[in-house]
Amino acid sequence: MKHQFPEYFLWGASTAAHQVEGNNIHSDFWLMENLKGSMFKERSGDAVAHYRLYREDIALMAKLGLNAYRFSIEWARIEPEEGVFDETAIEHYRDVLNTCNEYNITPIVTLHHFTSPVWLIRLGGWESEEAPTRFARYCTKVMSELGEHIPYVCTINEANIAIGIAKVINRRQSEGTAQVGINTDMAARMEMYYQEVSKAFGLPPKEIHSFLGPRSEYGMDIIFKAHVEARNSIRQVSPRTQIGITMSLYDIQSIPGGEEHAAHALHEEFLQFRPYLVDDDFFGLQNYTRSVYGPDGMLPIPDGAEKTQMGNEFYPQGLESVIRCISTHLDKPIIITENGVSTDHDERRVAFLDRALKGVHACIDDGIPVKGYMHWSLLDNFEWQLGFSKCFGLIAVDRSTQQRHPKQSAFHYGKIATTNELPDISQA
Ligand code: BGC
Repeated sequence: MKHQFPEYFLWGASTAAHQVEGNNIHSDFWLMENLKGSMFKERSGDAVAHYRLYREDIALMAKLGLNAYRFSIEWARIEPEEGVFDETAIEHYRDVLNTCNEYNITPIVTLHHFTSPVWLIRLGGWESEEAPTRFARYCTKVMSELGEHIPYVCTINEANIAIGIAKVINRRQSEGTAQVGINTDMAARMEMYYQEVSKAFGLPPKEIHSFLGPRSEYGMDIIFKAHVEARNSIRQVSPRTQIGITMSLYDIQSIPGGEEHAAHALHEEFLQFRPYLVDDDFFGLQNYTRSVYGPDGMLPIPDGAEKTQMGNEFYPQGLESVIRCISTHLDKPIIITENGVSTDHDERRVAFLDRALKGVHACIDDGIPVKGYMHWSLLDNFEWQLGFSKCFGLIAVDRSTQQRHPKQSAFHYGKIATTNELPDISQA
């Protein structure tokens, strides 16, 4: 059976500045990575030198057959000190956008992907009521300079991630698993580390509010208000850009008796934020696995289930369910801004892609407006506190030479993108 995709479907891959660019020295993460006793298993350092090698990477993407690229612009580079904008950084990203244009790659730009400038954190970070205005000011600058080259913008990546992190830290510490790269092995050293962080930011530990951490309810509101303020400002300076946000979404399921827990999880992770999204132009959906609830709450991964390098359940069919669920609550075009798997066994990435894309196709067939699929990730990269050990990339990188080595999955995905059609995956 043929699985043909719509003609203008966006086939791409995602990266985030701090995870690939290297030497993001004005950011809060750089500071935290370089502290004594850091929770980070290694430093981002040169990462995979994408700041230098972006032309080569974009050319490679085009050669593989992709037609879209989701990447982030780094706030800490654009505004390394409050109110001081670095024109060379802006020119850098102008060139990234021009390179995309040269290769017929549609850019999807994210304005905040977890990292923030150190000065923002010193001023109360993501719990300060001025954060939305500060963020909107940066977005205004970027979009007034570069907006004409940006057809799609995501204001904030995984605006709801703090909810998932809190759950993971509370529940799974002993198993050491998390959807995003959080180092749960070092829980015992956390207090000492926080003292170091506190010295470095010059703030009491309780007043340090970096993006990737647990958050008060008030803090969640601030993040979504930042989205709304940014959206309003972007509309003024770049009226043709389509604006969205991205959210991290598990495929929430229940077994008998777990229905209420599942309904509560959906409310907590998504529905409560809906009012902030209704005026967006599209929704950025990100999914990696499922979470299943029973009468006593979230259930462990079933015995014998295949796990990813991150310790998550290998569950590509979750994407289809999340798309279907979100589309019943939000009447908007959807772009899959992240979906992928960390594995050393690239044939499992191929299987993951086939199954996930079969689900996307079924949704489109049923009339759900899915406009594109951005695989996480283009390159093996810096998985936050877990360092470089997790392989999400379609392309491997030898970090001693920074040479790129496309994996079989990259060619497989490129072929799907070029033919706009899935291979025969009746077995998938
Ligand atoms: C994040 C990425 C991360 C990926 C895999 C997402 O939550 O947006 O930055 O690398 O998950 O953990």
